Amino acid sequence: MALNLRGRSLRTLLDFSPREIRYLLDLARDLKRAKYAGNEIPKLTGKNICLLFQKDSTRTRCAFEVAALDQGARVTYLGPSGSQMGKKESVEDTAKVLGRMYDGIEFRGYKQEDVEILIEHAGVPVFNGLTDKYHPTQILADFMTIIEERGELKGKKLVFFGDAKNNMGNSLMIGAAKMGMHFVAAAPKKYWPEDALVKECQAIAKETGAKIEFTEDAKLAAKDADVLYTDVWVSMGEPAEVWESRVKELKPYQINSELLKLAKSNALFMHCLPAFHDLNTEVGKDIFDKFGLKEMEVTDEVFRSKNSVVFEEAENRVHSIKAVMVAMIGN
Ligand code: CP
Ligand code: NVA
Repeated sequence: MALNLRGRSLRTLLDFSPREIRYLLDLARDLKRAKYAGNEIPKLTGKNICLLFQKDSTRTRCAFEVAALDQGARVTYLGPSGSQMGKKESVEDTAKVLGRMYDGIEFRGYKQEDVEILIEHAGVPVFNGLTDKYHPTQILADFMTIIEERGELKGKKLVFFGDAKNNMGNSLMIGAAKMGMHFVAAAPKKYWPEDALVKECQAIAKETGAKIEFTEDAKLAAKDADVLYTDVWVSMGEPAEVWESRVKELKPYQINSELLKLAKSNALFMHCLPAFHDLNTEVGKDIFDKFGLKEMEVTDEVFRSKNSVVFEEAENRVHSIKAVMVAMIGN
């Protein structure tokens, strides 16, 4: 059957079949090769894309901009204080306005519900560039990277350490379920993804042959892993007060060389970034002053090790986001 994603929105990867996800990953690979070879064919000529951010970003914003410009589109960036949305105008009204001006809207914000309101009322495709619940474009870049490095996704053991109930833990679990991977969340029980989502992913896993597991034992989880993945312990939008408990509860899940040794010898270290692996950030320094911790979710040694593919993931944000836009709003 022909595969056509034109006009679709990217709300969460839950909405996409394994075949559709594979299609986006293959397209991302082809677009990356074309860019490297200098023979990219613009498929977004004449399109206008709105980049609507309620939270800060380096990778997602730049990836959308570069991908759009490479493909011949024009972009408008509206930052956290750059529009009326939410303050003087509802998300619904904003969607109706932007939908009359743009061919596609990227949205990064707090509530997943807001992406859904935009999708319902904009009348043009909306791309989820991160909410508190999901971060689907990051998963496409991560899976593209795993395929580049290890050839395939099916059967690969990916272990997520740390705050597994956040947007990254949720989205990796969904992606792994869809693509027949072995997903393990290693964290204290209170940081596991919520039951309803776990059940949904387990039902998908039954169809695809994926395995979804949870454990509080970091060492057991790391054993024979193909990918060790982590994310910040406190996500954007969470109050500063939670740092104290997160540091205490998640420190045993820090990815360090001891944990890396338990994984396969060629295991990949992955992180969506930004990462706290040294004292060269304001937050990193502040946490050191308060709790004496020099590195947080990953040690500097692992972050800089030969196993680390974090900057490959970052680059692949461009190619995979380009695939999403070309497939969904391309000419
Ligand atoms: N990984 C990611 O989404 O990074 P930014 O917050 O810089 O966009
Ligand atoms: N969980 C992180 C991901 C950043 C890309 C956050 O939401 O801040």
